[in-house]
Amino acid sequence: MDQPAPLPRAPTDSRESGAAKLQDAFGRRFEYLRLSLTQRCNFRCTYCLPNGYRKPAGCAPELTPDEIGRAVRAFADLGLWKLRLTGGEPTVRADFDAIARQVAAVPGIRRVAMTTNGYRLAQRASDWRSAGIDAVNVSVDTLDPHAFAQITGHDRLDEVVAGIDAALAAEYAAVKVNSVLMDQIDEGAWDRILAFVQHRDVSWRFIELMRTNDNARFFETTHTPADALRQRLEHGGWTALARRSGAGPAVEYAHPASRGRIGIIAPYSPGFCDSCNRLRLSSTGKLHLCLFGEAGIDLRPLLQSDAQRDELVARILSSMPGKAQGHRLHDGDSGATPHLASIGG
Ligand code: 5AD
Ligand code: SF4
Repeated sequence: MDQPAPLPRAPTDSRESGAAKLQDAFGRRFEYLRLSLTQRCNFRCTYCLPNGYRKPAGCAPELTPDEIGRAVRAFADLGLWKLRLTGGEPTVRADFDAIARQVAAVPGIRRVAMTTNGYRLAQRASDWRSAGIDAVNVSVDTLDPHAFAQITGHDRLDEVVAGIDAALAAEYAAVKVNSVLMDQIDEGAWDRILAFVQHRDVSWRFIELMRTNDNARFFETTHTPADALRQRLEHGGWTALARRSGAGPAVEYAHPASRGRIGIIAPYSPGFCDSCNRLRLSSTGKLHLCLFGEAGIDLRPLLQSDAQRDELVARILSSMPGKAQGHRLHDGDSGATPHLASIGG
């Protein structure tokens, strides 16, 4: 019997209809927006906000849900289909659930992810899934409770791990761990991580520490390249998975004895910026073309009424040629970024 003819694909597939609209001078296409909801955070990670969050003088208020809705609709018009809610800690906003629900309902937005320090994930994972969040990234730099407390200022590792398990139980499409690499990993710490991923369908991603303006001295003493980790994975029988097109910057490894994967994000590696597929909107409405760029393009004046949509779309489009080919972290230049909480890590 003949195979049935494949169904025609919906013409509304924004990946086909709009993606080409947002393209930079180097042919990179942008389909992914990282939307920072706040700079505030209740943790004090040593590399980010070691003294806790303090509102900078003259800091503009956070975008309102209406402004956020207008921004996301304009980006969706331009073919962006993937969104990440980040911060700071996005869930410190009292209106987080309402914002999640609102952005998930924007036509053309097909995937909404969030990044969190996990402090409320154990209680809220299921509600956030129902609100329309598809994927969650949780920051866990160590599985040693004492070291976790020292890094974050909070003795809450158990709660955060319970949050990850709650997210797995709530059947998010993807659960990932962000783990900033700050030292060579000793055998004990390595064994804990292997045991953690062995039975969990998670991707544990090590991120090389990045230099920001505020952490420059900490960076000098702490930055650890990922090379040793890469060798350890390869010698331990882990194999690098082929990068899917449109995938982020992580190189992921799999092992036959492990349900979870281990990834490496190495921003200091050559070519890291070549596959950049993301734009960032800060919590005060500045469009950042790079995590380590300069001041950002202020979209807020065009987020005040629905009637400004065409002008807003035009401003986003006209900013694209300004995206630099790559960051200049190798030259010790972190752009205008004091810490990643400021524009959304
Ligand atoms: N270098 C690397 N990763 C960082 N993060 C925050 N600051 C830095 C930095 N300077 C990570 C956080 C979080 C993610 C959004 O970015 O740990 O997981
Ligand atoms: Fe907060 Fe994330 Fe910065 Fe840690 S890294 S202080 S959790 S914003």
